[in-house]
Amino acid sequence: MPLSKPPLAEKLTRRIPASQRPDLAGVLIPEADLQRRIALMGRAIARDYAGKDVLVVSLLSGTVLFLADLLRRLPFPLRVDFLGVSSYGLGTESGNLVFNKELKLDVCGAHVLVVDDILDTGKTLRAVTEKISALKPASIRTCVLLDKKDRRVGSFEADYVGFRIPNLFVVGYGLDFAERYRNLPFVGVLKPEVYAPKPAPKPGPASARKSAA
Ligand code: PRP
Repeated sequence: MPLSKPPLAEKLTRRIPASQRPDLAGVLIPEADLQRRIALMGRAIARDYAGKDVLVVSLLSGTVLFLADLLRRLPFPLRVDFLGVSSYGLGTESGNLVFNKELKLDVCGAHVLVVDDILDTGKTLRAVTEKISALKPASIRTCVLLDKKDRRVGSFEADYVGFRIPNLFVVGYGLDFAERYRNLPFVGVLKPEVYAPKPAPKPGPASARKSAA
């Protein structure tokens, strides 16, 4: 049976751990839902790749939790390698891509499965699949936990998708804002005031008077 269509995760629950309440607007995908869906993804991947020389290529750093849970659902011989790629942009926009860690293993002739946490504009996976294709793998497919389809620039679809999500600022389960929140066991939504804090009001006449006093 092929992997079922990815469910749309759009409802926020307020069951936020107390320590995260100041920063999070809600939980978008609870831990149990993540694990259930990853089990289905693992089953589909295991069936599709039975008997093949599989090389899983994980993109750093957002895949850290997803990869660990997905690999446990792939009970067959495979190799794992890591590619470091980051997009440096302003604020919430993705900018220029920089490869900051290269693959160690030989890709030629292998069936490559690229794993990423989120497919957003598609810029990262398009560049990564082009780069790996040049190394002559036997095949190349992509697997993402989250798909923010509304943000796509041009056409790009992943072969295995966990959840479709709306255009919200998601963190947790590997995803960060300023390198924080990756350790959360669920996918949450960040409050806008955390990533776009309001500028401090300019001192008015009252405060000017105060400081002059
Ligand atoms: C994020 C994410 C994806 C990419 C998706 O990486 O992990 O790799 O952006 O965006 P795109 O589809 O618009 O290219 P980021 O550069 O934030 O690095 P990180 O994984 O280290 O957080």
